[in-house]
Formats: sequence, structure tokens, C-alpha cells
Amino acid sequence: MKNIVSNKDFPSSKNFTYLNTANVGLMLNKAEKEINDWVKDLATNGSNNFNEIAEEDVFSSLHNSAAKLLNASPSDIAAGSSATELLSSLAWAIMPSKDQNIVSTNIVFPSTVYPWMRVASSTESEIRLVKEKNNFISSQDIIDLIDNNTSVVCISHVEYSNGQVFDLGLLSKAAHKHNALLIVDATQSAGAIPIDVKQTPIDAIVCGAYKWLCGPFGAAFMYVTPELSEKLEPGLVGFRSHKKMWELDASRIVYPDSAKKFEFSTMAFGCALGLSKSINFLNKVGVNNIFKYNRELADILIDKLRSQSACITSPLDNSRSSIITAYYKDKDSNKIIEHLKNRNVYVSKRGKAIRFSPHLYNTIDDIDNAVEQIDSIITKI
Ligand SMILES: Cc1ncc(COP(=O)(O)O)c(C=O)c1O
Repeated sequence: MKNIVSNKDFPSSKNFTYLNTANVGLMLNKAEKEINDWVKDLATNGSNNFNEIAEEDVFSSLHNSAAKLLNASPSDIAAGSSATELLSSLAWAIMPSKDQNIVSTNIVFPSTVYPWMRVASSTESEIRLVKEKNNFISSQDIIDLIDNNTSVVCISHVEYSNGQVFDLGLLSKAAHKHNALLIVDATQSAGAIPIDVKQTPIDAIVCGAYKWLCGPFGAAFMYVTPELSEKLEPGLVGFRSHKKMWELDASRIVYPDSAKKFEFSTMAFGCALGLSKSINFLNKVGVNNIFKYNRELADILIDKLRSQSACITSPLDNSRSSIITAYYKDKDSNKIIEHLKNRNVYVSKRGKAIRFSPHLYNTIDDIDNAVEQIDSIITKI
């Protein structure tokens, strides 16, 4: 298996065995440099260089790179500080009414559903959560909950806790059949799993930077179709919400005619610039190539875990991703994780399972090392 990135791109990846991208990804070194350079310039020069023109135009590189990632148009991308922030603005903008419902799952990452719950507590709309069975969500169960009163189906493309990948084409068809919107949280997939909005009609996608996109905390983006964006008034607004932000006209808001209407304030702008660098890098490597590479790593890991008689709790069929969860019968996962950490192998615990999440900077050696370290302790605990 040939590596697809060089050590120079992720210099720390050889200092330890990092199998924890579903928690926080390693940052591309060029993204880190971009962020640090921006902070240094601001600290040293105030707004001499980062002037009003630069501030107004600051998101254009992220609009372009994120659009390329999703095969969308740059005008359909909004930048923000976090996936949760952008989704909250969208949820208030859509504001499902009392007779409408929102469909999601009961194991989704809380931030994917909490914004809808908050809106529902004001509007009395109904939240319908598909119950997991044996830790998995059946797509048919999601489809069965959608009816003509469904306003939104909001799911995470990949479930953070078990790595299950949803078929967005299937859910898009099911939602649109009832005139409901499909809104996708791609924080656990974008950068690792291809998403093409021209092939798969999705109404909105939110995505944070700091996992599979190898970017920082403090930046995110949202894709919204022009048809939906045109109908909506953002839930969060500020001076940047005005079409000509530097008019600073407190008497009215005229929103931009694009997804930019969801950009409303200042933020740690360097983070958006850094994120754009990392997305450009991933676009160049090719998300299709990353997907294949990660799947090979995941499949090798699955085989090795099976040979240790681990109970694998992530999917083994085509809905698998490179988030692999497993536990060992009668063994405390916490003890195994602690042992791994002491040997410079980093993973997370989710539920009772150990969560491994390799990405493009990992190699077979990382997988071998993690499994060998588990081997060395498993009979002793
Ligand atoms: C699916 C999913 N969505 C959102 C988030 C959090 O995103 P943010 O911190 O950008 O709000 C996470 C973090 O783990 C996640 O797994």
C-alpha cells in the first residue's frame, strides 16, 4: 500500500500513532502556517494589512475550496466558526412550525439535533428520532418516519459513535418525495468520503474543520442550495449580514443574494484561511483516493481486530467508514486505551468500545503498531 501524502505535510504524524481523526484531525502544516501568519500579522500590524477590503473578501478562498470539495458553486457556500453555529442559524431560519416535524436519529452527534430541539421548544414542532437497534440505524426506519408534515430530515452523514455511513441519495429521494429538506452534517465525512451535490440533491450541508478536513478549531462552512437560501432569513445576523457590509447601515438589512447571507460577524478569520488551505490540499490529493486509502487501512484493521476476537461494533458492510469501533469481551476498554496512550497510540472511547479513526496520514505500520500494543496487554488485564 503506497502512502498518499508525504511526512512533510503532517510532520508530527511520525512522532506517535494517531488513530483519532474522528475526535480531532492532525492539521496540515500549511494550514497551521497560514493561521499563525494571519495572527502574527494582526497582532503586529492591526488592520494595516488586514484592512476593510481584506476583511470583506476574507472568505472567498474558503468559498472556492469548499465548493470544489462538494462540486458546488462558491456562491452556495457560507463560512462560519463552527458547524453548530451554522446549523443553528439554519434551524432558526427554517423554523419548522407546530404542525411540522424534524426527523433525525437517537445516536446522532448532539449538535446535529440540538439546534432543531431548541427551535422546536419555541414553535412546538415535533422531533422524531429513529431508535438504534444494536447500535445501528436502519435507513428504512428513517424513511418510515418521514411524512407530508416533515419539514427537515437532519442526519450526520457518518455516525460519530460507530462509523455508519448513510446513503444520502436514498435519504434525499425519501425526503424530497414528501417535500421535506435533507440537511446533512458532514463533519465526520467531508474530506474522507466523496460528496457531490450535483449527483445527490442535498438541501444544506454543514461541516466543521477540525476532523477529516485537517483544519483548525474555529472554522466551518455550510452549503445551501440557492433555491433554499433565497427563501430564508438567517437565524443569526450582524453587521456582516448586510449586502454591503461597510455601509454600516443600522436602519435596514439587505441580505446578499447568496449563501453569504449566513455570514454575520467577525471571527478568527485566520482559521477560515487555514481551512481553505487544507481543503485545497485534500482536493489535490483527491477525496476519492483518500476514501479508497482509508478504507484499505480500515479493512486491514478490521481483519486484525477479528483475529484477536474483538467484538466489532461498527458496520462491516458497504456502510462502513474508516471509523472502526470494537471492544474485547470481559476487558475494560478504558484500560486498553490507557495502555495505548502510554505507548504513544491515540484512540478514543465511545460507549463501551474503542474508536479507531485512521486518515490519510496513517500507514499500515500505525495499524500494526496499535494492534500489537493491544496484543501485548490483552491477556494481562
Ligand atoms: C457529526 C458532528 N457534528 C458536529 C460536531 C461538532 O462540530 P463543531 O464543533 O464545529 O460545532 C461533531 C464533533 O464531534 C460531530 O462529530
